[in-house]
Amino acid sequence: MATDATRSIEELQVAPAGAWLTTDAPEEAIPENPMDPTAAMRLVTEELAVEGIPERNLATFVTTWMEPQARQVIDENLHRNFIDHAEYPMTAEIEQRCIKMLAELFHAPGETTGARTQGSSEAIMLGALSLKWKWRKRREADGKSTEKPNLVFGGDVHVVWEKFCRYFDVEPRIVPLQSGKYTIGPEDVEPHLDENTIGVAAVVGTTFTGHADDVVGINDLLIRFRDEKGIDIPLHIDGASGAFVWPFLYPDSKWDFRLEQVRSINASGHKFGMVYPGIGWLIFREKSDLAEDLVFYENYLGKTDATFTLNFSTGSAMVLAQYYNFVRFGKAGYRVIMEIMQKNAEALAADIKGLGPFQIIGAGEETLPLVAFNLAEEHPYDEFDVAFQLSAERGWMVPAYTMPPDAHDVKMMRALVKLNLPRSLVDRLVGDIADALKTLDVKGPVTADERARVKTNVSH
Ligand SMILES: Cc1ncc(COP(=O)(O)O)c(C=O)c1O
Repeated sequence: MATDATRSIEELQVAPAGAWLTTDAPEEAIPENPMDPTAAMRLVTEELAVEGIPERNLATFVTTWMEPQARQVIDENLHRNFIDHAEYPMTAEIEQRCIKMLAELFHAPGETTGARTQGSSEAIMLGALSLKWKWRKRREADGKSTEKPNLVFGGDVHVVWEKFCRYFDVEPRIVPLQSGKYTIGPEDVEPHLDENTIGVAAVVGTTFTGHADDVVGINDLLIRFRDEKGIDIPLHIDGASGAFVWPFLYPDSKWDFRLEQVRSINASGHKFGMVYPGIGWLIFREKSDLAEDLVFYENYLGKTDATFTLNFSTGSAMVLAQYYNFVRFGKAGYRVIMEIMQKNAEALAADIKGLGPFQIIGAGEETLPLVAFNLAEEHPYDEFDVAFQLSAERGWMVPAYTMPPDAHDVKMMRALVKLNLPRSLVDRLVGDIADALKTLDVKGPVTADERARVKTNVSH
């Protein structure tokens, strides 16, 4: 077809506005001709009606509600490319403010550096790369082999840590979990350490039960290791969820730069930083903890810029939304929000326990605002049956999953309690769990097909 740049899209052959209602959605190829914009909008949005409702998604750590004013900031800044620092210097400045604010929150001793990332996964990749680069430099300086780097972490970490090891050729040394022990401490880590260990990763707020590794114990171990063997192994804290929770709920608990060996921390702004998906943070203890070789200097967009990212162009809106939250809530506001979520999580835990068949995992320990629970004894049905029944009867997305090795015989359920789960909905959820149990008591376990539909992914 001859092109004619003088025509508008509307002058092309546009599909009749209602055509999409009775034809299949385009799937295999971009359609030849345009369609009416309202029809396109409806085609895109109406199919989403069959998806889960984010507010009832108690599986995810990720923010499902922000204030209308924050949404306005987001809407008005969707067209700003974050990487274009030459044109959008204030956005770059606001990123730096966020980094400094987080460094202060995590008790960095002095001047520091960091990066805005797409989420904790990118932050972990970059942080762990820096560990690898710094280790290699130390080894080269000592004239020693750089062939076999290893990284030590527990089975309680998020899958991204194994992904890093595979993508960047590092041996993962994974401390297995055990039934009833779902975090790790110094005694677990010590046997895995040697001169090729690029770092240890500890989690504050694990994906599986919400608890923290024994960071103080691991820090003490690494200090002893350094003093006795002359091997200085840095500690990275995966605070994807916990880095925004511990400072407010457990301010006296040391997990951050107050501990000497903690050299870097990642946090997901889009989890308890309370921003919509697409924002994470990597914060170094000191500037020297970032391997200088990983920073690229380029002047592609009109100004010499230092970049330390895995991607290039990306949105600015979530950086600005993070700053909005910082100035809007302040530390006191974040504290109150965390306390509200914690109070409702405690109420949910007490009520779930009160139903009879369940036990709460790690009750009374420092944890994220969530309830991890499982059936205390054998029943004709299991956690996967309960998860299915609950979602079938009321649409709640409460995942059922098995724990990582060597605790993989343990089945678990987990409900996140975020700001959009007020007490009235906590009560409703408990009532709905009770109803699901009643149904299962009568009809027995769900079918294999139904079990296959249970939400089992808890890694976000
Ligand atoms: C402990 C932990 N680390 C890392 C991640 C990955 O974070 P993101 O989804 O921000 O990439 C998660 C996600 O849930 C997590 O819980």
